[in-house]
Amino acid sequence: MTEKTIIITGASDGIGRAAATNLKASGANVVITGRSMEKTKAVAEELKVPYYISDFSKLDEVRKLGSELIKDYSTIDVLANNAGGIMGSDRILTQDGYDRAIQVNHLAGFLLTNILMDTLCASKATVINTSSAAQQFSGEIDVNDLKLEKGYSRMGAYGKSKLMNVLFTKELHRRYNPEGISTAAFHPGVVRTNFGEEFGGSTKFLYSGPMKYVLRTPEKGADTLVWLATSIPGKDWASGEYYSNRKIKRPNRQAEDTQNAKNLWEISLKATGIA
Ligand SMILES: NC(=O)c1ccc[n+]([C@@H]2O[C@H](COP(=O)([O-])OP(=O)(O)OC[C@H]3O[C@@H](n4cnc5c(N)ncnc54)[C@H](OP(=O)(O)O)[C@@H]3O)[C@@H](O)[C@H]2O)c1
Repeated sequence: MTEKTIIITGASDGIGRAAATNLKASGANVVITGRSMEKTKAVAEELKVPYYISDFSKLDEVRKLGSELIKDYSTIDVLANNAGGIMGSDRILTQDGYDRAIQVNHLAGFLLTNILMDTLCASKATVINTSSAAQQFSGEIDVNDLKLEKGYSRMGAYGKSKLMNVLFTKELHRRYNPEGISTAAFHPGVVRTNFGEEFGGSTKFLYSGPMKYVLRTPEKGADTLVWLATSIPGKDWASGEYYSNRKIKRPNRQAEDTQNAKNLWEISLKATGIA
């Protein structure tokens, strides 16, 4: 049997890197993407895997990544949309005109998935979206407001972007499960990574105090991603659901609103220039 081709975004560090390491060791054809050339190249050389560089705060770079991947891979068995993080206390719009957290954490993965859609359908692929328990604390979401003009807070923006990951998963399932795609969102736990470091906070410092008993290693944080990538959808797990610790978990009630999911899909198509 040929090994699976597994593309993991945000694999230059943290959870994505740990997942790539595990999956490569199990024999998969792992392909990694990162934003930093230096970090991504170093991980790729260590794991002996191909790599691609793309900054998700620039949609043109996501488009370039998508076209390179289409050209280089005729089969993609798993796409893990994992890149992302928590942004700063001030609202910053990207050059594309969207809130930075919404673009990096939601729009970029949405665009990449849609660019790869024909290959993903033909491959009967699994699409895994790294969400977060923070989606529970998003406040009221307005899926029309991709600039977050109606009030901004660091955690609110992060929570909304992670709720969008769940809404995206549900609508991707509704539209493309009949075409062969299986998809799930998951919460990795609270994991000791660079998470938040870029904007003046990090989970890392917590590891030296009592929180070290609560925080996970990146390897443990990657466990549900690795499990979704290597087990059988429809048998071992259910497409369209939100997981934590390999179990279905009920997400924010707003994620169950199918109209919200449909609207977000349509608005994201327009925002990314697909339609
Ligand atoms: N750590 C936690 O406790 C936790 C909890 C819940 C959910 N999550 C989610 O887990 C995912 C991975 O985060 P992590 O904890 O592993 O953090 P991390 O160690 O900071 O890794 C983040 C990864 O995303 C990439 N990335 C960040 N900004 C990017 C951008 N603008 N364009 C392209 N790639 C970008 C980084 O690339 P470079 O390093 O090359 O810049 C890196 O590979 C995120 O989606 C995060 O929201 C984390």
